[in-house]
Amino acid sequence: MSSPPRQHAVVFYSRDDHTHALASQIADGLDADLFRIATDRYGDQPFSYLLAGFDSLVGRLPAIKPLRDMAGYVTVSLGTPVWIGNPATPLRAYLAQDPTLPGTVGLFTTSGGDGPQAKARKVVEDILGYKVDAAVNVPNGTDTGEIRSRVAGYCESLLAGLGKPP
Ligand SMILES: Cc1cc2nc3c(=O)[nH]c(=O)nc-3n(C[C@H](O)[C@H](O)[C@H](O)COP(=O)(O)O)c2cc1C
Repeated sequence: MSSPPRQHAVVFYSRDDHTHALASQIADGLDADLFRIATDRYGDQPFSYLLAGFDSLVGRLPAIKPLRDMAGYVTVSLGTPVWIGNPATPLRAYLAQDPTLPGTVGLFTTSGGDGPQAKARKVVEDILGYKVDAAVNVPNGTDTGEIRSRVAGYCESLLAGLGKPP
């Protein structure tokens, strides 16, 4: 017998796997399906770090691989590294496609330092045209217990947003 479809989705971009690790923990916490946004633009080639930074600064969005429709999910959590204070361009490219998202949307970010997530969150909310229901940032080097606690707090706030008026 097949199991019922999952209610929650996690859609993330990660270049160096910090956001991937956080996405996996959030997906475990929500029992969510995990979808990775993929692009060839910022791979192993030399200077791809600089290219990513430059694209982020000027808002040049890369081609991304098609992702399945999120219709049917009750929540979607969007995940991205912070690049030059912005959400990474592959997530911006995904949002620029105006994907169908459910009424409850969260955002998780990773960063090199603490602090830059407020602007990244505002950029995402400006693109979406509404506020996210939950948000969390995990700077690199955060200890395991603290990550666990932030992930639990994020999942709790996201689920508390269910059933809110639109
Ligand atoms: C192009 C680029 C720009 C970045 N800009 C910032 C920044 O403005 N602030 C910050 O705290 N970290 C910045 N970082 C660090 C990343 O946000 C951090 O290492 C993140 O965890 C990387 O996620 P990933 O491993 O999933 O790709 C930047 C990293 C890259 C590659």
